[in-house]
Amino acid sequence: MPPENTDWSDHRKFLEEARTRDAQDVLSPFRSRFHMPPHGAGEALYFTGNSLGLQPVGAKDIIDGELEDWKRLGVEAHFDGRRPWVSYHKEATEDLAELMGALPVEVVAMNALTVNLHLLLVSFYRPQGSRTKLMIEAGAFPSDRYAALSQLRLHGLDPAEHLIELSPRPGEHVLRTEDIQDRIAQEGDQLACVMLCGVQYYTGQWMPMREITQAAHAAGATCGFDLAHAAGNVPLALHDWDVDFACWCGYKYLNGGPGCTAGAFVHERHANKPDLQRFEGWWGHAEARRFKMEPDFDLMPGAEGWQTSNAPVMNMAAMLASLAEFRAAGMERLRAKSLDLTAFLESGIHAVAASTGSRLEILTPSDPAARGCQLSLVAHGHGKALFEHLTNQGVILDWREPAVIRMAPVPLYNSFSDVAEFLGILHAGLRGDT
Ligand SMILES: Cc1ncc(COP(=O)(O)O)c(C=O)c1O
Repeated sequence: MPPENTDWSDHRKFLEEARTRDAQDVLSPFRSRFHMPPHGAGEALYFTGNSLGLQPVGAKDIIDGELEDWKRLGVEAHFDGRRPWVSYHKEATEDLAELMGALPVEVVAMNALTVNLHLLLVSFYRPQGSRTKLMIEAGAFPSDRYAALSQLRLHGLDPAEHLIELSPRPGEHVLRTEDIQDRIAQEGDQLACVMLCGVQYYTGQWMPMREITQAAHAAGATCGFDLAHAAGNVPLALHDWDVDFACWCGYKYLNGGPGCTAGAFVHERHANKPDLQRFEGWWGHAEARRFKMEPDFDLMPGAEGWQTSNAPVMNMAAMLASLAEFRAAGMERLRAKSLDLTAFLESGIHAVAASTGSRLEILTPSDPAARGCQLSLVAHGHGKALFEHLTNQGVILDWREPAVIRMAPVPLYNSFSDVAEFLGILHAGLRGDT
């Protein structure tokens, strides 16, 4: 446990308030359902669930079970295993649908995020005539930009002309809803597809997804989202918002472990459309006849029709343990705690800034409706040395060039005391008491 001794008098108040809030927190038992990495004789202060979620305690049993079935049954485990491998992805469907605000038929666990983004863009970015443009955000996660550029080239289109990258206003860090809407309307019938993030990886901004989707549809474009930082972080209603497509990864807030199987959402409006262009594979072929090895492709209904390969069992096993925790905790309660925890962190950062006379700028919107749990912090005049101090003291955060410290108090396993302890370490780092 990091030291509590500090001469910052407000720290004691934060620590006391944190203890009270932790005692009242109905979700606090979930912390013991995850392995908190050690630091010295105690535990690290882990705020990097936005990058890699912690290992669920239940993961080992599930993975061991699959190893045991493999050992005991070999290939027969595809049908006779405790969770038959042939339909392993379906083990995640109900829970993923709940988290995405989707119908079960609209979601599927498969592949990796960028692979899914490509598969979905093949179907939903269909430039035709003068409707050719693809819209992303400037500063999108590099993989999304590479995907967008290569999709444009696939259609023989020059990215310089046909890729739109939305930027915040000069001097601002996040996009304004009205600016996104205006730009979509302005592009109008030249716009083929809007593909933005759900929660921005760098700033932590939760995009106004419903408004963006409405604007895209009003312009006659399709609309999809990269939910890497949104899935398991913010409550989603993809079906009701009428989103066309979305994809996410399983290793961040979904705690599925490194390289965990990702997921995809396709609105039911687009299900059962054999004429919709897609890259096909045998796992998207009619399930009941898959092993008849027929030469012609017969499309499966729903999002499962975008599958190409058989389910990566080991890659999905740990996520099943995490999804069980989400089911037990419930997204509504998680969001309620998340709002409190992030607000507590935010107020603490302001208090530390005031006490040390530091300029601590939070890039993330202060409006709770426009963010999840992550805050992105710039400590002007301190840079990476401060980050290194925090790391040395057992605070696990991440650094994004040129100067951002991202931190995410995750409601499933972080406590108010984690945040209060972090504030003391931050205070000491800014004062140079290291
Ligand atoms: C916002 C975002 N998009 C895409 C990716 C790429 O994910 P993957 O390597 O699973 O394709 C990441 C990875 O961190 C990400 O944060």
